[in-house]
Amino acid sequence: MEITFLLNGETVEVQTAPTRTLLDWLREESGLSGTKEGCNEGDCGACTVMVTAPGEAPRSLNACILFLPQLAGKAVRTVEGLQGPDGTLHPVQEAMITHHGSQCGFCTPGIVMSLATGHTNGQTDHDDLLAGNLCRCTGYAPIVRSAEAAGSAPVPEWISGAPEFSDAAFTGRHQERQRSSAQEEGAVARPSSSDELAAWYMAHPDATLVAGATDVGLWVTKGLRELSPLAFLAGCEDLRQIETTEDGVRIGAMVTIDDMRPVMAERHPSFGELLRRFASVQVRGAATIGGNIANGSPIGDCPPALIALGATLHLRKGDTRRSLPLEDFFVAYGKQDRRQGEFVEAVSIPNQPDTLRCYKLSKRFDQDISAVCGCFNINVANGSVATARIAFGGMAATPKRARAVEEALVGRTWSDETVSAALPAFAEDYTPISDMRASAEYRLEAAGNMLRRFHAETTGLATDVLAVRP
Ligand SMILES: Cc1cc2nc3c(=O)[nH]c(=O)nc-3n(C[C@H](O)[C@H](O)[C@H](O)COP(=O)(O)OP(=O)(O)OC[C@H]3O[C@@H](n4cnc5c(N)ncnc54)[C@H](O)[C@@H]3O)c2cc1C
Ligand code: FES
Ligand code: FES
Repeated sequence: MEITFLLNGETVEVQTAPTRTLLDWLREESGLSGTKEGCNEGDCGACTVMVTAPGEAPRSLNACILFLPQLAGKAVRTVEGLQGPDGTLHPVQEAMITHHGSQCGFCTPGIVMSLATGHTNGQTDHDDLLAGNLCRCTGYAPIVRSAEAAGSAPVPEWISGAPEFSDAAFTGRHQERQRSSAQEEGAVARPSSSDELAAWYMAHPDATLVAGATDVGLWVTKGLRELSPLAFLAGCEDLRQIETTEDGVRIGAMVTIDDMRPVMAERHPSFGELLRRFASVQVRGAATIGGNIANGSPIGDCPPALIALGATLHLRKGDTRRSLPLEDFFVAYGKQDRRQGEFVEAVSIPNQPDTLRCYKLSKRFDQDISAVCGCFNINVANGSVATARIAFGGMAATPKRARAVEEALVGRTWSDETVSAALPAFAEDYTPISDMRASAEYRLEAAGNMLRRFHAETTGLATDVLAVRP
């Protein structure tokens, strides 16, 4: 297939296999090898590049798990394109030299791309910006000092101007390719709307859908799988909408974790904070809510929070749509209530007073998958538990509600005694497994402790630990 995108300001037209990654193409075909390969699975950030879609702020993304078709019509900037046309260094590059932010230099291209993207977007939380960039030898203090020093410099005009998309020839070329791909009847599709996707998927019900590719990318780079038929959803603009309705908020399947974060942070700050601890900046900028739900993972971070909030999932097959409570979507390990040719269109969250608390337990604070993720939405009225929705990830083969625990709480006084009496119910709800993240016993105990913590926090007791908090 052929795609058109901008690489360091120049139009490139690439004939590519659909699952060729940007990193492989850069290093093996484009002659630009400044972007490094470390883990090849989204963890280390050595391959970070800056990607800008028309009308959007730039994002730093991991090139190792980005398939070339995901870049159609976008602008990619690599470390080779960070300096000005006359060779002037970007302020971040300059500061990294002045403040000794680099030793062996392997991580440095990725680090400067992350910092330069943050600098362009005015972001100053450098720890957060760097959570997805692994440096093994310099240590982060000089790198953060470099970032702070560069912070006061203006964004260079060769970056801020983003003049690339004003090139009519580029836009025309991309649109032409997009049109011809919409007419494609073959094994690879790049639909430009959910209607097109629905029609194509009906004809290819066994196809793999690619959203942000933060899961699917690894099937290729680590699993060495060949995927066909394949549909890239990046062009389905209508699936990227967040709509506020009278009843709540509806989030399209292709909305990224990064884009839904501010909306959630406003409504449910603890969920917003959970999303800040979702992977890293590079992963959050690509990963979608649809992918996080559809993959059916028992350790995905969004499903427990969404189930605790009483979210509804919207599915579509051809012209037929149906909706179901999100918890009913997860049937068993690897099995969801999704029919052949049916895709996730959106998830909606009802308006409600904010009583949600999310606790993510992982071996590392940032950029780590949950061992246990507990989400509590408990309403207390006149000292008694009026309603309770509790859901966990990492405790069963699917994200799952703690119905027995809920039952042990509702109608009872919101007290230490009630909480203690409810704890044995965790063993009725869950039979967790032992794996590399945690043992079964640890998981059960941690889940109970999360309920204790929720009670402590809601009754004014400080819980002074490093964790998810609004
Ligand atoms: C380094 C790293 C760290 C991570 N950390 C976390 C973490 O902290 N928390 C966490 O929850 N996850 C984490 N993940 C997992 C991953 O980022 C998420 O599951 C993500 O939300 C997947 O979304 P995606 O858009 O990338 O999906 P994709 O990889 O594109 O797709 C995932 C699956 O969903 C299907 N799919 C996608 N969209 C749809 C749709 N609209 N309808 C039907 N099927 C669809 C695909 O066919 C595929 O089966 C991490 C991944 C990496 C690589
Ligand atoms: S090579 Fe490690 S994140 Fe891409
Ligand atoms: S400078 Fe060597 S890994 Fe960062």
